[in-house]
Amino acid sequence: MAVDTDVLATAGRRRTFAVISHPDAGKSTLTEALALHAKVISEAGAVHGKAGRRGVVSDWMEMEQARGISITSAALQFGYRDCVVNLLDTPGHADFSEDTYRVLTAVDSAVMLLDAAKGLEPQTLKLFEVCRHRDIPVITFINKWDRPGRDALALCDELVERIGLQPMPLTWPVGEAGHFRGVVDLVTGEFVRYERTAGGATAAAEEHLDAERALAEVGPEWTRAVEEAELLAMSGGEFDRERYLKASATPVLFGAAVLNFGVRHLLDLLVSLAPPPSARPDAAGDERPVDAPFSGFVFKVQTGMDRAHRDQVAFARVCSGVFERGMVVTNATTGRPFATKYTQQMFGRERSTVDTAYPGDVIGLVNATALRVGDTLYAGKPAVRYPRLPTFTPTAFAVARPTDLGKAKQFRRGVEQLGAEGVVQVLTSDRRGDAAPVFAAVGPMQFEVAAHRMDAEFNSPIRLDHLPYRTVRRLLDPAQAPILNTGTRSEVLVRADGTLLALFLDEISLGMARRLNPDLALDDSLVDN
Ligand code: G4P
Repeated sequence: MAVDTDVLATAGRRRTFAVISHPDAGKSTLTEALALHAKVISEAGAVHGKAGRRGVVSDWMEMEQARGISITSAALQFGYRDCVVNLLDTPGHADFSEDTYRVLTAVDSAVMLLDAAKGLEPQTLKLFEVCRHRDIPVITFINKWDRPGRDALALCDELVERIGLQPMPLTWPVGEAGHFRGVVDLVTGEFVRYERTAGGATAAAEEHLDAERALAEVGPEWTRAVEEAELLAMSGGEFDRERYLKASATPVLFGAAVLNFGVRHLLDLLVSLAPPPSARPDAAGDERPVDAPFSGFVFKVQTGMDRAHRDQVAFARVCSGVFERGMVVTNATTGRPFATKYTQQMFGRERSTVDTAYPGDVIGLVNATALRVGDTLYAGKPAVRYPRLPTFTPTAFAVARPTDLGKAKQFRRGVEQLGAEGVVQVLTSDRRGDAAPVFAAVGPMQFEVAAHRMDAEFNSPIRLDHLPYRTVRRLLDPAQAPILNTGTRSEVLVRADGTLLALFLDEISLGMARRLNPDLALDDSLVDN
């Protein structure tokens, strides 16, 4: 087959990544700062800040709403230097859900954003676990350095100690957290001094000073920064791109997104270091080259919450070839054709129609009621089917019951469909019976969507009774289920794929069960297939 150098070259200039962080670490501020640097938006601050913030709406949606853009987008695309950067949204706060994890199946790299005062936080750890499972290279950005926070070396130590990730700083802060003057650029050896602009509204001005001048102007703070960075380099933190690409070490940058400090470094790094799209293994393990005919997979399906408009947008990541609007592609799951007449993509401010998209890009397929999360789409030959998306251990549980008992058939159909789509995981047990399945989710929003769709789409309104379980493990030996099904502190439920989930009220209940039954075969990994 002739190599399509154009697709290869274009794909080689794509950088598709997501930010993984805990709520409030500054993800939306950083997103905005990145877009600002890339000149997608002219002034930051316009949509940011407390005003107009709504708890249940993700910041991303909020940004879009403030700009009058549709809330259905999943990716922000912008140009930087000679690259096209696709930043995929990882909804946090109340929107945190299994979809957030699934987004990580569609990226080539990730930026781990940490709050300098807090370090690694629970949601970051969970998202990082998914990155690790998939060997996704991670760049770490330590944010809010303008505020009092922890010691830079301590933050780096935490990466090694808690997640076994070797930090390789590329910049090092000059001035402790709260007295941020700039960074040592460890590649050039220069002092990059930041100038505050009013409210961080425009890209921060940078002044570059050589080491001699830096020493003369900032004295001991400069010396200390250089010494600390050297210390880390000597203890294994020397930069090595291969280790980054293999996901065993992470380049580290320091900054303050709200002031746009360090954001240029991050963009430069993404462009120069982060991997472009590469051949993707299909379900059989064979790699589909980037320049093969078009293929992609659906990683997120968004259903309109408006009863009158049952619109559904399926977001697909392009894996190979060129996508052209109007193409008729095949859905590998059903074998049916799918016409892509209506396709959209986020481009800066506006939701625009996409005519062409390349590997690494995200396309939004409108009115895609036939598409499900995990579906593979392809054009031409050979056919391809990508592996099904991983399932994640849920953390919240609720018993679903039809409020209208006369709708048992609709109820069953709806539950089956939502389970198949991965809107929620559906769990059952002999003890509970089929009439009252347990919905399991990673975040509360999944319950909302499920309840809404049961009513609006399947005409079977439901009641959800939340269960008090907070700690979950996979039970590896089915013969041990009766042990956990005795009291009220634990229970074993079965997912449609046969996985057994052992639910415990809390860590204490889990600890007790383990003490009483030292042979309990439990697995605590988050990604469970
Ligand atoms: P998120 O999307 O990760 O949840 O975080 P978001 O960007 O909304 O930022 C959370 C808060 O942190 C925001 O404050 C934001 O201004 C602030 N922030 C983000 N980056 C920086 C930084 O580099 N330095 C400092 N000092 N603050 C930063 P807020 O919602 O406006 O109000 P408040 O939380 O300050 O009260």
